[in-house]
Amino acid sequence: MSPNQSPELQDPELQFAEWFDEAFAHSGEDASRCFIATVSEAGQPSVRVVFHRPGTSRRLRFFTNYQSRKGTELSHNPRAAATFHWPHFQRQVRLEGTCHVVSASDSDAYFAARARDSQLAALLSPQSRRIDSIQAFRERHQQQMQAAAGAPLARPPHWGGYELVPHFIEFWVAGHGRMHERAQWTRAGGVWQCENIAP
Ligand SMILES: Cc1cc2nc3c(=O)[nH]c(=O)nc-3n(C[C@H](O)[C@H](O)[C@H](O)COP(=O)(O)O)c2cc1C
Repeated sequence: MSPNQSPELQDPELQFAEWFDEAFAHSGEDASRCFIATVSEAGQPSVRVVFHRPGTSRRLRFFTNYQSRKGTELSHNPRAAATFHWPHFQRQVRLEGTCHVVSASDSDAYFAARARDSQLAALLSPQSRRIDSIQAFRERHQQQMQAAAGAPLARPPHWGGYELVPHFIEFWVAGHGRMHERAQWTRAGGVWQCENIAP
């Protein structure tokens, strides 16, 4: 995207959704991988991969364990940053903003659409917490799965979605001779402004 094309007429959130759709149409699930960074109470950043599962707002949305490291960090500080890289298109998108928990009905709907294995993992895994041994954890998991066999599974309250409401979005496109194109959008007072920045 060129910010020189009447930026005031463009909506970077729409642009993000369009770029994602193009990447997904080409690469499927690979396009959904994004790196999301959160910050601890002590100010230590941490980053990990999650899958982007857009909802009706088309914003970055991912599902996880609210008691995981990222969930705990977001409960103290909801600010987060995320990056997508779509190699086929030589594009990168960077987002920064605030994460909020999505509605229980949205999380319920997503949970209900998941494969049973994934539902069980969400129910049974105390994500990011210490386990005594991998072997013992797997055996206990197996027993719990057998105990739950056949029963319909409800979303546990410790698991659900976050949506990132961005105040910063950068679109990066590779250019010849490292003349990459960068359009940086910032939102203040509800209005998006665009600048070109050097590669
Ligand atoms: C390709 C890929 C996709 C992943 N998607 C998710 C996801 O959507 N949600 C999630 O909780 N973890 C996902 N993970 C695992 C996370 O990277 C991470 O290990 C886990 O969420 C625990 O992170 P935390 O301890 O920082 O909270 C994914 C990992 C990979 C490699």
